[in-house]
Amino acid sequence: MAPPQLADSLMFPSAHPDGFPQLQNEPVFDPARHLAIEMPDTVVSLADLGYDDDEIATCPTPLGVTSAFRILSEEGAACLIDVARALEPYTRSIERISRMVRGGVYQSKFLRDLCTSPELTDAISNICGAALHPHTMPHQLGHLNYNPEEAGENVDKWHADTLRIDFVMFVTDPNLIEGGEFQYFHGTRHEVAEINAAGQTLPADRIVSPELPGPGYAVLQQGNMVVHRAKALKTPGERITMVNGYVPAEVDFPDYTRFDQLYLADPANIAASEYARHVAWMGREALKAQIDGFAFSPDKEQFADRLDGVAQLLANAAAELRNADNAKMEHFGDE
Ligand SMILES: [Fe+2]
Repeated sequence: MAPPQLADSLMFPSAHPDGFPQLQNEPVFDPARHLAIEMPDTVVSLADLGYDDDEIATCPTPLGVTSAFRILSEEGAACLIDVARALEPYTRSIERISRMVRGGVYQSKFLRDLCTSPELTDAISNICGAALHPHTMPHQLGHLNYNPEEAGENVDKWHADTLRIDFVMFVTDPNLIEGGEFQYFHGTRHEVAEINAAGQTLPADRIVSPELPGPGYAVLQQGNMVVHRAKALKTPGERITMVNGYVPAEVDFPDYTRFDQLYLADPANIAASEYARHVAWMGREALKAQIDGFAFSPDKEQFADRLDGVAQLLANAAAELRNADNAKMEHFGDE
């Protein structure tokens, strides 16, 4: 069988949306100085979490979640904290998260260059064992969470992500705060949904808090498959984390974008625009694979199926766009 054709990445949009003023006087991202990427020591697979082979086959990587690994040098971490603090006046709230900045990549060239860095994308692809691109939707790049104003309130509730692959990186030093752990449930999202529906709390002995040694260290996860949260600080302190998203370069994997959820989280001039552009990219790349991989064949069903696949992708996305208005934000609560 021929190896799967990989999609070309999508350029960052050249148009700039309203409501995202550019930061002034920021550092210039330099991968040689600002990255210090190491590999994680351990990887928990989707199978370890309890997913079955059929479900794993629909995923671009068998990876579930890694132990902490380094991404930024000390200098890189120092630059990123300056950028994150400069973006702090732009925090917004959603039902899940008290204070977050999404779309900072439109405001900060440093953040944009870090989050779309080819060196970083290559490393994350290597860890996943699958070719990836930086997420095609800019609001899925460089998402920043800030500690709530009050200690004792979770930074983010138990949830699964609206994208497949992302890392959660500490921007501030986790050693300087009490609490504020990133945690994941050692199990499937289906188990969490059952526990949640029964009104029970997650069993403490299945909650994992990876040790994050310092700023610039991250945990990589298949975020739509791993239920996770960011716990409250026990005492007042500064806690900033950055989440960066990726899409598989194999566009044959079914799209995993929860547009209904993003439409609740992101501004009206953003969510649909970015989603439509993302789906147009998937369609373009799927059609390009059909043209590039063209071969004469009497099998008309096969041609019909492949064209249908792209038509369905576009039709489903159009329906998502039209039907998103009545959604509720999904999460699994605080405990
Ligand atoms: Fe998340």
